[in-house]
Amino acid sequence: MPAQLITVFGGTGFLGRAIVRELVDAGQRVRIAARHPAMPLHIEGSESIELVRADIRDSHSVKAAIAGADSVVNAVSLYVEQPGASFETIHVEGATRLASLARQAGIERLVHISGIGARTDSRSSYIRARAKGESAVLEALPGAILVRLSVLFGPDDAFLTTLAGLTRLPAIPLFGRGETRLQPVHVVDVARALIRLLGEPLTRRRLFEFGGPDVMRYRDILTLLLAHLHRERPLIPVPFIIWRALAGAAALLKNPPLTSDQVILMQRDNVVGAGVGTFADLGISPRSLRDSLPTCLPQP
Ligand SMILES: NC(=O)c1ccc[n+]([C@@H]2O[C@H](COP(=O)([O-])OP(=O)(O)OC[C@H]3O[C@@H](n4cnc5c(N)ncnc54)[C@H](OP(=O)(O)O)[C@@H]3O)[C@@H](O)[C@H]2O)c1
Repeated sequence: MPAQLITVFGGTGFLGRAIVRELVDAGQRVRIAARHPAMPLHIEGSESIELVRADIRDSHSVKAAIAGADSVVNAVSLYVEQPGASFETIHVEGATRLASLARQAGIERLVHISGIGARTDSRSSYIRARAKGESAVLEALPGAILVRLSVLFGPDDAFLTTLAGLTRLPAIPLFGRGETRLQPVHVVDVARALIRLLGEPLTRRRLFEFGGPDVMRYRDILTLLLAHLHRERPLIPVPFIIWRALAGAAALLKNPPLTSDQVILMQRDNVVGAGVGTFADLGISPRSLRDSLPTCLPQP
């Protein structure tokens, strides 16, 4: 890929950090845009990285963050609504603002990160906002590429770390019977795929979905983790109606450990669909969760 300047919105997040690392390794110049931008620990002092304070809700700062950039990645996330930051303001209005301003600045390549399962008819306002945001981004910048992900894993992730925490309980509650199928995908594989997308000649495909090589039931992921951690625990089915009640109660907390959107997401399989671009189109063989566990989750 010829040397470019790429602005990574959300470049300090879990996925954003991996994207920045891969871009720098590939010899690209990177501008990290976030509300609290910070140098990645492993590449302190790199001359290839610029930091820009930007808020996707604020046009002035977004304009400054993309000025002179060749491409833009939107890896901003919001999982729990906060005062002044709703799913609509971040995933719809913010995403559209970034795409429109990119178009005005003559930037053709924007990769917008979303999640597998985005649908306008969902009961979850989070999932609806993701779908609405995707359409609005394409309307604002028809050359944008939408990338939907299944659940990400990697060292210091939220997914395996949370599940490993559950394995310390005397018994592990399942979402329903734990039959929901997920396709956990390594964060570095996604970052590499995004870099291919940034470097490819403009592709006609507008939608990619990335999942790992294994489609696994939630209960099978827990069983794999228990074996990896040398623990034995019973897996207890818990009906979704109870999870919804728990999420309702948790909503009263400042940092809820569970949201109703997460419960709704866990009610449907979260796997790569048909007719979308995948790793295979980019010549990438993603690594499996099973093989990656030793590097992602230290054994006790
Ligand atoms: N993690 C997963 O398993 C997973 C699964 C499917 C899809 N995804 C998608 O992947 C993307 C990245 O997720 P992630 O897990 O890497 O997120 P994350 O770790 O929570 O990072 C979020 C990033 O967004 C920035 N940000 C938040 N609000 C912002 C704002 N108003 N303006 C500018 N930047 C803002 C944060 O920095 P500041 O707080 O400093 O602004 C941070 O850099 C999201 O679209 C997410 O939905 C993730």
